[in-house]
Amino acid sequence: MKKDKKVVTLAYGCQMSERDAETLTQITRQEGYTSSDDLMDADLVIINTCCVRESAENKILGKIGELKRLKERNPNLKIAISGCMVQQPGALERLKKRAPHIDIWAGTHNLHDFSALLHQAEQGEKVAEVWEEPKMTIESTPQAEKGKLQANVNIMYGCNNFCSYCIVPHVRGRERSRKPEEIIQEIRDLVSSGCREVTLLGQNVNSYGQEFSPGYDFADLLQEVDQIPDLLRIRFITSHPKDLSDKLIETVAHGKKLCEHFHLPIQSGSNFILERMNRKYTREYYLGRVEKIHAFLPQASLTTDIIVGFPGESERDFELTLETMDLIHYSQAFTFMYSKRSGTLAAEMEDQIPLDVKKRRLQRLMSVQNQKSLEWRQQMIGNIFEILAEGPSKTNPERLVGRTRGNELVVFEGQPEQIGSLVNVRITEAGSWTLFGVIES
Ligand code: 5AD
Ligand code: SF4
Repeated sequence: MKKDKKVVTLAYGCQMSERDAETLTQITRQEGYTSSDDLMDADLVIINTCCVRESAENKILGKIGELKRLKERNPNLKIAISGCMVQQPGALERLKKRAPHIDIWAGTHNLHDFSALLHQAEQGEKVAEVWEEPKMTIESTPQAEKGKLQANVNIMYGCNNFCSYCIVPHVRGRERSRKPEEIIQEIRDLVSSGCREVTLLGQNVNSYGQEFSPGYDFADLLQEVDQIPDLLRIRFITSHPKDLSDKLIETVAHGKKLCEHFHLPIQSGSNFILERMNRKYTREYYLGRVEKIHAFLPQASLTTDIIVGFPGESERDFELTLETMDLIHYSQAFTFMYSKRSGTLAAEMEDQIPLDVKKRRLQRLMSVQNQKSLEWRQQMIGNIFEILAEGPSKTNPERLVGRTRGNELVVFEGQPEQIGSLVNVRITEAGSWTLFGVIES
């Protein structure tokens, strides 16, 4: 085998999947691999998968097929498939039959064990490890990658909510919170290696710490993280509206580094559909939470997720979603067509919506939201925002790129020495996805 071994890691899906992919890359580094983007030059390819919608699965299956040809050209190449797709009941046997060229299969609860699996694969074995249940103590290793300006930090794993459309609780298990002291230590370590912004990750960060006694909740954790010296910004995703407490909103309002951005998935504006989705809130309750956020944080940015074409969604239900979008000024919305996931309650519901209806509703929703997002960016023109300068803009390398506290992307004229610090930028122009601005001294 070559001495300088290269690994290409691809992550599909949410930030949790990206964070898991980072963990796997870190493990391979301990095994002597260096990261690369070049598939042609790879000794190991890892695909961390997503199964939240059928479209993600189809994309991944296509990629797995492509890798077969790569392996034919380079028989020493090892391929590992990990994450949510592998974890679905019965999936491993199906996938193994379909893709015999894969060397390693690893479930969502088996990441820590990856080096042992890799050793076996390097000896020419085909290996699979997919535990049905997680084992609490081993989940937090290794920690987020050091030396970067921004880092994603897991604060909890799994989900207890069982929204009727969602496969996540089935593939990531029940909710488990990491201990506050472990999280704080990880962030302190990251900051001492140059990190200035952390995003705290959980399927529902608002229910962090439910299993702790004496009581300690997400707002308590945020207050502690806010005290860490030299950290400039703290973000968090995702907030389930049903658990968004007044205490949390007030904590964000009073925090120094806590960014005024809430990703608050509404999913639908119809109470009938919300009930069938098992979301455990009504449209009125959700609007009340938004009002509360704006009362404490008039400048807060809100983003959301919306599903169209959930089983039983009538034209009127869909109209209610559009009406709700009109009431709430989201800076951005992630919009999806409902995708049937086997093993979930909604997959068994009658009155599934035909594909052409789902497509039409999605198009309509997207055009309404694109207009609203543009209006949101336009109302920022002329105002000054605090930006964390992240680095050169990809599309315009002479300029810098960074984000507002509300998570809006801004391209601006700046100096390389400003990278990693906070600068004040006056917004001058709103493009279709990006804002443009100039530094105010
Ligand atoms: N179909 C479509 N969208 C889904 N999501 C989760 N499950 C499904 C599904 N079966 C969306 C939800 C969630 C986001 C991460 O993905 O909007 O908030
Ligand atoms: Fe899925 Fe609902 Fe849990 Fe989010 S809260 S991961 S949508 S079950």
